[in-house]
Amino acid sequence: MENISCSILYVLFFLIALLLYYHSSLKKSKWRNLQKAKLPPGSMGWPYIGETLQLYSQDPSVLFANKQKRYGDIFKTHILGYPCVMLASPEAARFVLLTYAHLFKPTYPKSKERLIGPSALFFYQGNYHSRLRKLVQSSLAPEALRKLIPDIEDLAISSLELWAEKNQTINTFRVMKKFSFEVGILALFGQLDAKYKEELNKNYSIVEKGYNSFPTNLPGTAYYKAMVARRKLNQILSEIISERKEKKTVEKDLLCHLLNFKDEKGKNLTEYQIADNVIGVLFAAQDTTASALTWILKYLSDDQKLLETVKAEQRTIYESNGGKKPLTWAQTRNMSLTYRVILESLRMSSIISFTFREAVVDVEYDGYLIPKGWKVMPLFRNIHHNSEFFADPENFDASRFEVAPKPNTYMPFGNGAHACPGNELAKLEMLILIHHLITKFRWEVEVSKGGVQYSPFPIPQHGLPSRFWKETRSQRDP
Ligand code: HEM
Repeated sequence: MENISCSILYVLFFLIALLLYYHSSLKKSKWRNLQKAKLPPGSMGWPYIGETLQLYSQDPSVLFANKQKRYGDIFKTHILGYPCVMLASPEAARFVLLTYAHLFKPTYPKSKERLIGPSALFFYQGNYHSRLRKLVQSSLAPEALRKLIPDIEDLAISSLELWAEKNQTINTFRVMKKFSFEVGILALFGQLDAKYKEELNKNYSIVEKGYNSFPTNLPGTAYYKAMVARRKLNQILSEIISERKEKKTVEKDLLCHLLNFKDEKGKNLTEYQIADNVIGVLFAAQDTTASALTWILKYLSDDQKLLETVKAEQRTIYESNGGKKPLTWAQTRNMSLTYRVILESLRMSSIISFTFREAVVDVEYDGYLIPKGWKVMPLFRNIHHNSEFFADPENFDASRFEVAPKPNTYMPFGNGAHACPGNELAKLEMLILIHHLITKFRWEVEVSKGGVQYSPFPIPQHGLPSRFWKETRSQRDP
């Protein structure tokens, strides 16, 4: 008996030793590979400032496209104070955002993190992130969105009527921002008192100005004012939360999900954590959707033939409803041409042209070293405008989406653990606004052939000045 247990011990010992040897030789060979790996090609620019000036003096998409032509799909640079590796291939973007996402953490400048709120989900990896993300996802899932359709329609129609009543040229991007803000508020709070909406809007606009300014926290500067407005936003949210707790209303919006959140120890989120995530979602939702809607209007007005076919699709749905509201969920799923126009507009405009991560260890990819601490930037726009994946990429062609794009080549909403949880809401509000715009209104763009401007997302020059008016019955039924 003693002999048997002794031999079992020997075998176990041998197996453990073998395992340790295998593990250490694997580590050594990985380390040897890393030592052999070289930095990607590319230029690092001037000491300290690197190539930041080029980034601000040129159109970033042109700058990165030229670099890709010169150095290939993986290249290094130095911008905004950091050494960076840029990745312009679908495989490399997938490596960073999905397969080896644990080796790359999300990274934002501290000054911007302070303004949005340091507890917002997009600054985190791991447990805290995945739990919060589940909450955000569930409040923006199709079952939740279905119920929002009538309210989104009301917002779309009242916005369009307001723009038409103005009877003058207006900044399309600005009014789309107001619309997407209202839809964001709806998803976050359900029906919210007008006084809170106004206060949130006022202070949020000040925060936004500070976000896009130089971060000097001295009285009088835009950044300082933004920090003051950010604290005010916390107060407003605190009032909304107390009111909701007092009324004991049971809602299914994001605020309700955040209030009911419990971690593994049964602890709720603090009011600061809730506020940071509410502001974070609003921040992620507003300019992105407004920019996409502005581009859609530009592309449609640039191509009257396409506009007519989208109009025919929308009129069929309008007539099948007898011209009445609300649209059904099935009808919003049955706007295939309009949907393809949205997909192509997102590809062409690539609103989020790239994203940032930071390598948490030395990483080897495709024979190149990505050193620990370096920023890593998957370049969505370069991938979306590569003729290898999208034929004649500078040409707007919605029909290309009749066939699904190759895997990992189409990422307007990102990829992996941090991919956009609001993408269905964004697409739904675009479909609804287009439906009502096209079936009851007309619009004319003032400078249709203008270029791009960054705000900070790419938008058509001057925010696409346009005039809106209501269609008369004779125009509708000629
Ligand atoms: C056309 C509109 C939109 C576009 C193009 C867009 C794009 C993106 C992209 C590319 C990311 C990933 C960023 C990264 O990986 O670093 C992202 C993340 C995110 N988006 Fe959107 N988005 C849009 C609308 C929305 C809306 C309407 C909401 C919410 C109501 C939203 C909420 C979020 C949130 C919370 C994140 C962070 C997710 C996380 O870190 O886990 N977005 N979005």
